[in-house]
Amino acid sequence: MDKIIELINKAEKINELSKEEIILILQSSEFDQELLNAADRARKKFVGDEVHLRGLIEFSNICKRNCLYCGLRASNKNVDRYRLQPDEIIELARKGVSYGYKTFVLQSGEDEFYTIDKIKYIVEKIKEFDVAVTLSIGEKSFEEYKAYKESGADRFLIRIETTDKDLYEAMDPGMSHEERKRCLSDLKALGYEVGSGCLVGLPNQTIESLAEDILFFKEIGADMIGIGPFIPNGDTPLKDEKGGDLNLSLKVMAITRLLLKDINIPATTAMETLNPNGRIMALQSGANVVMPNVTEGEYRKMYALYPGKICVNDTPAHCRGCITGKIQRIGRTVSNTKGFRRK
Ligand code: 5AD
Ligand code: SF4
Ligand code: FES
Repeated sequence: MDKIIELINKAEKINELSKEEIILILQSSEFDQELLNAADRARKKFVGDEVHLRGLIEFSNICKRNCLYCGLRASNKNVDRYRLQPDEIIELARKGVSYGYKTFVLQSGEDEFYTIDKIKYIVEKIKEFDVAVTLSIGEKSFEEYKAYKESGADRFLIRIETTDKDLYEAMDPGMSHEERKRCLSDLKALGYEVGSGCLVGLPNQTIESLAEDILFFKEIGADMIGIGPFIPNGDTPLKDEKGGDLNLSLKVMAITRLLLKDINIPATTAMETLNPNGRIMALQSGANVVMPNVTEGEYRKMYALYPGKICVNDTPAHCRGCITGKIQRIGRTVSNTKGFRRK
């Protein structure tokens, strides 16, 4: 039997691979569909056919950081900035509840307008709707993470972006890879469900480092992993770079499912940007979560991480119906639980 098929079978059977074995799978292209199918079977076996929807609220596109890949970087003057008031954010969540969402992801740039007290107020109010709350607001101190947890936040997302320290520090000027890892370990220690993930296709990123990313997700005991292709943004220093590939992103995601069998894995918006069927392809290659946007009006366009973002002209109600239909057409169901990690 071919070596690659043997490795895919091994991963499916014992949910383990060495770094060298992951590299072999990522480098070959002959058995990609077999890999994606194996991840789909592991998804079905360990987390079932339910798809969890998380309502995404992009509440501020103001960011003090300068990540080279990101359109929200502080130095980008070509983006109109906005910031929602705490009560506006709570109102978006209230409407989201009426569309049936049981979890909200509150995401923003690193915007210091939102003090500890403001975030606590927002989390406490949204928790009154009997939903799970996920924060995705960047690097904070242990004390801040602790305060948010005490106010009721259930989960926190912070991608490592890449485990290649030199690449990370080149891509994210002024940021430290150690500090990023400190955030992840503090969040874990505080009892959050911890989400991380990486970009695929950053300039000078190697296959070896993608293999290390997957093993890192396992090492930190991540509960959720979001993987998306890097998409060059014309308003950033990386505008002339090549960008990531959907197939490689799906393969990294599929191996992540095989090795971290029972975690939650979103079909990412960036995948759908590269292919109109990207999220469905992901849901059939290991993913079990979708994060439809519940931000309203012009703000969607302004939250311009990368170009070609989907759903920028759609309403929350439309997206809810759209994604439900897509999920049902592939024989899956929309969960009506808060969708905590099944252990
Ligand atoms: N392409 C794809 N994903 C991006 N992100 C930021 N900029 C881009 C881009 N150009 C991702 C980062 C970040 C998440 C919120 O968006 O991984 O963690
Ligand atoms: Fe800010 Fe996040 Fe964009 Fe970096 S990736 S510039 S931290 S919004
Ligand atoms: Fe927004 Fe389909 S999910 S239009």
